[in-house]
Amino acid sequence: MSNATGGAAETADGMVVGVVGAGAMGSGIAQVALANGHRVLLTDAVYATVRRAQEAIAAGLAREVEKGRMTAEARDAALARLQLVEPDHGVGPFRECGIVIEAIVEKLEVKQATFRAIELVVAHDCILATNTSSLSVASIGGGCASPERVVGVHFFNPATVMPLVEIVPGVRTDPAVVERATRLVTSWGKVTVRAADTPGFIVNRIARPFYGEALRMLEEGVADVATIDWAMKTIGGFRMGPFELMDFIGHDVNYVVTESVWTSMYYDARYRPSLTQKRLLEAGLLGRKRGRGFYDYTDGATSPAPVKDETLGTIIFRRTLAMLVNEAADALYLRIATAADIELAMTKGVNYPKGLLAWGNEIGLEKLLEHLEALQAETGEDRYRPSPLLRRMVRNADRFAL
Ligand SMILES: NC(=O)c1ccc[n+]([C@@H]2O[C@H](COP(=O)([O-])OP(=O)(O)OC[C@H]3O[C@@H](n4cnc5c(N)ncnc54)[C@H](O)[C@@H]3O)[C@@H](O)[C@H]2O)c1
Repeated sequence: MSNATGGAAETADGMVVGVVGAGAMGSGIAQVALANGHRVLLTDAVYATVRRAQEAIAAGLAREVEKGRMTAEARDAALARLQLVEPDHGVGPFRECGIVIEAIVEKLEVKQATFRAIELVVAHDCILATNTSSLSVASIGGGCASPERVVGVHFFNPATVMPLVEIVPGVRTDPAVVERATRLVTSWGKVTVRAADTPGFIVNRIARPFYGEALRMLEEGVADVATIDWAMKTIGGFRMGPFELMDFIGHDVNYVVTESVWTSMYYDARYRPSLTQKRLLEAGLLGRKRGRGFYDYTDGATSPAPVKDETLGTIIFRRTLAMLVNEAADALYLRIATAADIELAMTKGVNYPKGLLAWGNEIGLEKLLEHLEALQAETGEDRYRPSPLLRRMVRNADRFAL
């Protein structure tokens, strides 16, 4: 089926979706595409992983039926549309795909080689979408004969639950490809935002201070882990405290994202990782999955009690929020995304209770600027430098237009 751009239709009508990499993200993305009527081809370098993904998808769709969100017939039809591709069969079977989404290991050479091989078999209008979190779309596309068809389509974990998808055009991506990818993902019920091809895109960039400032306050002895988590949940309204969340994500993943954003930003002090977190990682205390991170998750372990001091809690919350709003303002200043997309990204991608720019307006930009200037003056660190946009807005007695 053709559409106005001459390519395959961006709806379920006949468009075959290829997913390469059947791990945590690939299996979730495949489930989303199946649930939305597509035939899906799924492969992985390890065939046992494809089999496990098939079981996970079946279990996931069974839950949808239990919850009354899908009929048993629709579930059976979705599972029948899933075609597992053995790695020995190569990429040949992907020739009929209208889009191939890669969710393989986060290594540039491997992603480039995968797309190069797929390019040889697919139609000229097949979209190559990367789910990369930390590599640039430009670099992945740069390894392809047709970089104009390569676009970032960044889902959040778990892909079946999280509504946000960041759409990231690379410097050589064809705008028509960006539009088609956006339309397709929107037709799957996802909320899309457009992000510039810069480290961390929107969410993984703006969220850094949520972890970083908590770690820094712990290192300075402002409060302990349990108290910082209590403050951010009770006073800030966040669903999880930063230490609980880091333990949940895993320090292997969370630390590596921070380090990658920091190095890709030419070692900007604002994103500098924490030695405390690095030591946990080095010691193998990766968080929940290993039974211990900042907290002890072994049977019978008791959680430390927070100091429920409102004044201290407010200091913790306000300092973190000042850094988060500054980061959101800077992303707007540097045109990483529009104000509306920044707000959507943080509320739909990481469940923040409010958009950060709206929160900044509410607290008062002047107050936030004063807070950052005081931190910068006291520490002498560039880490706390206010965004030029924040300064400009305060000078003009302006507010973020939302
Ligand atoms: N986990 C997250 O929270 C998250 C969120 C958004 C994006 N991402 C990105 O999604 C991608 C996948 O992450 P994940 O968490 O699903 O990883 P994962 O380790 O769960 O799965 C990756 C899979 O890719 C397979 N693989 C490796 N090389 C391959 C190749 N050449 N061909 C086919 N399969 C290959 C592996 O066998 C593995 O099963 C990465 O780029 C990651 O940055 C991850």
